[in-house]
Amino acid sequence: MTSRSVVIGYGHYLPEQIVENAAFEKTIDTSDEWIRTRSGIERRHFAAKGQHTSDLAAEAATAALANAGLSANDLDAIIVATSTPDLTFPSVATMVQQKIGMERGFGFDVQAVCAGFVFALSTANGLILSGQARRVLVIGAETFSRIMDWSDRSTSVLFGDGAGALILEAQTGSGTTDDRGILACDLNSDGRYKDMLYVDGGVSSTGTSGKLRMQGNALFRQAVEKLAATAEAALEKAGLGHADVDWIVPHQANIRIIQGTAKKLNVPMERVVLTVQDHGNTSAASIPLALSVGASSGRIKPGDLVLTEAIGGGLAWGAVALRW
Ligand code: UT7
Repeated sequence: MTSRSVVIGYGHYLPEQIVENAAFEKTIDTSDEWIRTRSGIERRHFAAKGQHTSDLAAEAATAALANAGLSANDLDAIIVATSTPDLTFPSVATMVQQKIGMERGFGFDVQAVCAGFVFALSTANGLILSGQARRVLVIGAETFSRIMDWSDRSTSVLFGDGAGALILEAQTGSGTTDDRGILACDLNSDGRYKDMLYVDGGVSSTGTSGKLRMQGNALFRQAVEKLAATAEAALEKAGLGHADVDWIVPHQANIRIIQGTAKKLNVPMERVVLTVQDHGNTSAASIPLALSVGASSGRIKPGDLVLTEAIGGGLAWGAVALRW
C-alpha cells in the first residue's frame, strides 16, 4: 500500500477583459502576425483595476471546491504559486484562506516564477506523503500585467493574467503506475541564468516592484532541451515511457517551445493541451489553467497519464507525472 496525492477537484478563473493582439498595434511597433507566428498567442486576459492576484486565486479556489464537492474547512492547506502577490506580505495563500472562509489549517506561497505550479505540486505532494496534510488546495495565480513595461514590445505582448487550482487528497494506492495521483516529480534550478528573465525591482533593492525583463531568444534556446530533459526524468522516476503519456500539459509560453518539446518527447500535438492562443503566458497560472480547461472540456479523463513541464525565471524548471 502506498499513499498517493490524487486530484479530486479543479477550477480556473480568467478576468473579464480580453485584449486581442491587434490592440498592441496602436501603441507599439508590432503586429498581430508577428505575435501569432513567433509565440502562438492571439489574445490574453487582463485583471481589472482593483482586482488582485488573491481575487483571481480565490475565484479559482471556489470553482475547484465546487468541482470537488467540498467546503473550505475540508482543506488542510493552501499553497499558492505566484510571483505577483497582492502585497510583499502576507502570502496570497492566507488572503485566499480568508476569502474562501477557511478557518483551519495553513497556507503559504511558493515562488518559482513560470515553473511555480510544478514546484507547488511537488511541495503539496511532500506534505501529503509525509502525513502533514490530507487535502491540499494548490493554486497558480498571477497578474503579470502589473509588471509589464508597456513600451517594451519584446515582452508586453506575451503575458496575461489568470488563476487555476487543483485539490489534492491523500488516497491509498497499490504502489504501481496504475495508481491515480502524483507518480513522480523532477525539480531543477540554475542561478547562473538569473539574468535571462527577471524583474528589475524588489523590496530589498529598489524598494519598487519593478518591471519584467527577458532575453527571450536566449531563454528560447534553453527551453526545449531543459523541458524535454525534465519531462524525461519525471517519466523515468515514475517507471513510465513516452508511449504511456496521454496528455502533455505544458507551461504555455510559446507554441514553438511546446511543439519542439512534444517532438523531442515523441508525443503528437493532438495529445498536448494548448491554451497559449487564448491566455498568453500566465506564468505559474498557465499549467493549472490548462489542466482545468483540458478536464472541463472532457479531454483529460480520470485515469489518463498527464505530464506537466515548465521553465521560467531563475532559471527554474521541472515536471510532474500524474495519473488524473
Ligand atoms: O514563461 C517563461 C519562459 N519564457 C519563455 O519561455 C519565452 C521564451 N522566448 C520566446 O518565446 C521567444 O524568444 C519570443 C517570442 C520572446 C521572441 O521570439 P524570437 O523568435 O526568439 O524573436 P527574437 O527575440 O529573436 O526577435 C526577432 C526580431 C527582432 O528584430 P531584429 O533584431 O531581428 O530586427 C526583435 O526586435 O523580432 C523583433 N521583435 C518584435 N517584432 C515585432 C521582438 N518583439 C517584437 C514584437 N513585434 N512584439
